[in-house]
Amino acid sequence: MRLIVLIVFATLLFSQDAIIPIPQKVSYDKAKAALGKALFFDPTLSADGTVSCATCHSFAHGGADDKPVSIGVFGKKGRMNSPTVLNARYNFRQFWNGRAKDLAEQIDGPVHNPVEMGLSTEALVEKLSQNDYYRQTFAKLFGPGPITYKRYKEALVEFEKSLVTPNSKFDRFLRGEAKLSPIEMQGWHLFKMRGCITCHNGINLGGNSFQKIGSIMPYEGAPLDDRYTITKNPKDRYVYKVPTLRNVALTAPYFHDGSVATLKEAIQKMAYYNLGTLLSDHEVAALEAFLRTLTGEIPDAR
Ligand code: HEC
Ligand code: HEC
Repeated sequence: MRLIVLIVFATLLFSQDAIIPIPQKVSYDKAKAALGKALFFDPTLSADGTVSCATCHSFAHGGADDKPVSIGVFGKKGRMNSPTVLNARYNFRQFWNGRAKDLAEQIDGPVHNPVEMGLSTEALVEKLSQNDYYRQTFAKLFGPGPITYKRYKEALVEFEKSLVTPNSKFDRFLRGEAKLSPIEMQGWHLFKMRGCITCHNGINLGGNSFQKIGSIMPYEGAPLDDRYTITKNPKDRYVYKVPTLRNVALTAPYFHDGSVATLKEAIQKMAYYNLGTLLSDHEVAALEAFLRTLTGEIPDAR
């Protein structure tokens, strides 16, 4: 039995993607990204003129918002906690349940969602076409012809590709440029030894696999929009894309349902539900200190 546990653990450890620093330079089309940035921050591109992508993905909140569930047009409440857009280019799928295969496909969600931005493709293109800046800029970047939804998405995706957060203390540590404090170092060791790293690994410390919330102890919340809703496989109940832990200190509240208010509580609950362990206060503090080293340079919102 012990041997089996050891083998399973070893297999998981070796199948992990290495945690590597966010590159200091990433490639994307700068001119299209500038247009995408204008689109990302423009609340007029919503059904009631009040909601932009940035409403729910604010850079001041690490690319997420500070609400348990997002609030869209006409003050309507969504169902899920908004995940961060920062470093989303590194996620293997988009959305909590991975229903979008990439950033372009993801955009169809919020634009049309009646509780997010609530616009049909036609209404969106109409709004864009009435705006001088957009008319001129789309023509300059994409050539003549009407503004299309496809081009709108292309510009937004280029902007999203630029949203990376390099030079966190942890990345500088990985590059040998900074030292972690003793408590941060203890947290990093616990992160590996306790097994957090079996799910939170790779460049984003997450975003590269689907895992269950409650893999050891059953989760008490509802299985909202989980992987099961896509696959209809009963094994996929409570299964979600593992969220990135980069900039996690900025993105409270936590979990797909936004039920957890603080990072401390998120760490305790993760250890309980997914490792079957109760951590000591000191272990929680150390893990929290480590997770705080994952905050990188946040892109400029202006
Ligand atoms: C009303 C709030 C709201 C608005 C407006 C909004 N989003 Fe989101 N966004 C969310 C929520 C909530 C989710 C998660 C939904 C889910 O997984 O079911 C999400 C998911 C995402 C993801 C996937 C991240 C991941 O890790 O899976 C990306 C990327 C994203 N949004 C980008 C955008 C862009 C671009 C826009 C503007 C076109 C936008 N969002 C508008 C709330 C919002
Ligand atoms: C079996 C896989 C697995 C293990 C092990 C695991 N996690 Fe998670 N983690 C997840 C999943 C899946 C979620 C998303 C849960 C949800 O929202 O319902 C998550 C969410 C989180 C969140 C909240 C992120 C957010 O944006 O909402 C934090 C913080 C976190 N984990 C830290 C840890 C720490 C620290 C450990 C080790 C003590 C750990 N995790 C162990 C899979 C795992």
